[in-house]
Amino acid sequence: MQMKNIVILISGTGSNMAAITQVAQRERWGELHGARVAAVISNRPHAKGLEWARAQGLATDVVDHKLFGSRELFDAALAEAIDRHHPALVVLAGFMRILTPGFVQRYQGRLLNIHPSLLPAFPGLHTHQRALEAGCKVAGATVHQVTAELDFGPILEQAAVPVLPGDTADALAARVLVQEHQIYPRAIAQLLTAL
Ligand code: GRF
Repeated sequence: MQMKNIVILISGTGSNMAAITQVAQRERWGELHGARVAAVISNRPHAKGLEWARAQGLATDVVDHKLFGSRELFDAALAEAIDRHHPALVVLAGFMRILTPGFVQRYQGRLLNIHPSLLPAFPGLHTHQRALEAGCKVAGATVHQVTAELDFGPILEQAAVPVLPGDTADALAARVLVQEHQIYPRAIAQLLTAL
């Protein structure tokens, strides 16, 4: 049987990547879904999450966006690195690059993202600060299929958290992140059953 390979793309800490990998092990996605985290790829050579992934024995790769003259060239190199692992799913987990429509189309239906807001509210950056400034009483996170439009596309999972009096953007981000670690593995597991 062909394994369903999951390729995770990160740019930084990689706590969502770690959460997904740990749930995959704990829930035995290999036996349950015939799936595994096959590789972790970063656009930043020194992304902290790479160290964790290496320590787990996961295959890792770096495609440094700074070495490419255009988004198209970067995305082509990134796709090449991803395709080496024959992915069933490509999972963006704190991957901080805007992807070209061609890249998105290549992985249509099997490209997921997590965004730290209750989409369609607050696409883009600084979501927690913007939620605080807007006086939101709830905030949250969204797992969605990626389409050509930034932080858009069919919603797979959401979780809400309260905004508390005196919250800072960091405090709110930390509360949301706990939920991200719950909903991202759940959304992926759900999708794997349909693949
Ligand atoms: C998460 O809040 C994610 O939603 C956002 O960036 C953060 C990445 O965190 N896009 P990590 O690298 O998964 O720890």
